Amino acid sequence: MSAKIRLGIVGGGGDSLIGILHRVAASMFDQYEIAGGVFDVDYDRNKSFAEEIGLKPDRIYNDFDTLVKEEKALPENERMQVISILTPNFLHFPMAKKLLENGFHVICEKPMTTTYKEAKILEDTLKKSKAIFAVTYTYTGYPMIRQMKEMVADGVVGNIQKIDVQYYQGWLNPIVHDEEKRANTWRLDPEKAGISCCIGDVGTHAFGMIEYVTGLEVAEILADLNYLYKNNELDIDGTVLLRFSEYVKGVLRSSQIATGEENNFTVSIYGDKAGLKWEQENPNYLYLIQDGEPIRVLKPGNTYLSELSLDGTKMPPGHPEGIFDSMGNIYKGVAKAIKNERYHPSEFPTIKDGIRGLMFIEKAVESHRNGNVWVKITDNQ
Ligand SMILES: NC(=O)c1ccc[n+]([C@@H]2O[C@H](COP(=O)([O-])OP(=O)(O)OC[C@H]3O[C@@H](n4cnc5c(N)ncnc54)[C@H](O)[C@@H]3O)[C@@H](O)[C@H]2O)c1
Repeated sequence: MSAKIRLGIVGGGGDSLIGILHRVAASMFDQYEIAGGVFDVDYDRNKSFAEEIGLKPDRIYNDFDTLVKEEKALPENERMQVISILTPNFLHFPMAKKLLENGFHVICEKPMTTTYKEAKILEDTLKKSKAIFAVTYTYTGYPMIRQMKEMVADGVVGNIQKIDVQYYQGWLNPIVHDEEKRANTWRLDPEKAGISCCIGDVGTHAFGMIEYVTGLEVAEILADLNYLYKNNELDIDGTVLLRFSEYVKGVLRSSQIATGEENNFTVSIYGDKAGLKWEQENPNYLYLIQDGEPIRVLKPGNTYLSELSLDGTKMPPGHPEGIFDSMGNIYKGVAKAIKNERYHPSEFPTIKDGIRGLMFIEKAVESHRNGNVWVKITDNQ
């Protein structure tokens, strides 16, 4: 019997954006084997895609419910141990809940659910299970993000006084001005995406990232969202003021209509001693900036980095680490957890991060709808 973890995948078919990232990430450290799944909502496409990537047809299922039923009927040492949920947002909650109730570990794409209420139900379901649950805020797996987190914790920047996070994309620009294209984009459909497009899709990455890197929790937000058209139901751009405390403040700028931008995600933390800056499109450079000092650039794989950062690097310095490696590190952490091995709690985002993300989405929309007012972000609603 193989010692690899048996992974099932739901969603992430041949036409999808995110499927390839998960499949490569899962294979990266030789920890998982893909046992089967339901890759596509269309069964013929599902079957032919599975064949194309070399999977045997016997565990390629008609639909999700059949997968759960048939896998559950297999002996424990054969059945899938963990399922990755890579479908559009509205399916994350019912699928994750059913998987947890049936004893599977779950790796779930973000946003974890479409409502805060669902997120809390999922938390209760998880508590009743013995499962491992990860939410793939992909970018937290980068070695230089892990390093940034550890340097902030070690006091390198001093007391944080300003946080600036930006996530700008432009891919919705050619879609949003065309009603037909809009109607064919699930991220703009409230039934499939939830109550937000931009804040839910990229804003949550930015929100999760600053809480990850700083170890702080956002206490209050004030959001100004843009929908561009009266008949466009979901935000496609949003600027959010952040208050962590009276003297720790920041801004989260997110957009999917920043024309020409690709995946411009930047994180800047400024303290009273120094600043740290990182850009997703050049993820191998972490900039340390200080008054009166030349800028310093830290790079992956060097011995001056933290254990957590080095654990996310496979090659000697000078070999770039990219988005696949970042997701690979998250899968590696989840594998350690499933195998009951020692792991650092920052190796993968958990249900707590998923819940905070949903709280952020709902509160950002609430703040905007109520006339751009300050709203508290607390987990006791
Ligand atoms: N972590 C990240 O950085 C990141 C990046 C992109 C997307 N995502 C998230 O990943 C999810 C998927 O996004 P995407 O861009 O890949 O979407 P997509 O539309 O490109 O692909 C969705 C896939 O799910 C399949 N699918 C739909 N319904 C299904 C069902 N009932 N059963 C099985 N398969 C089904 C579709 O056939 C398709 O293959 C979203 O929740 C999105 O927010 C995360």
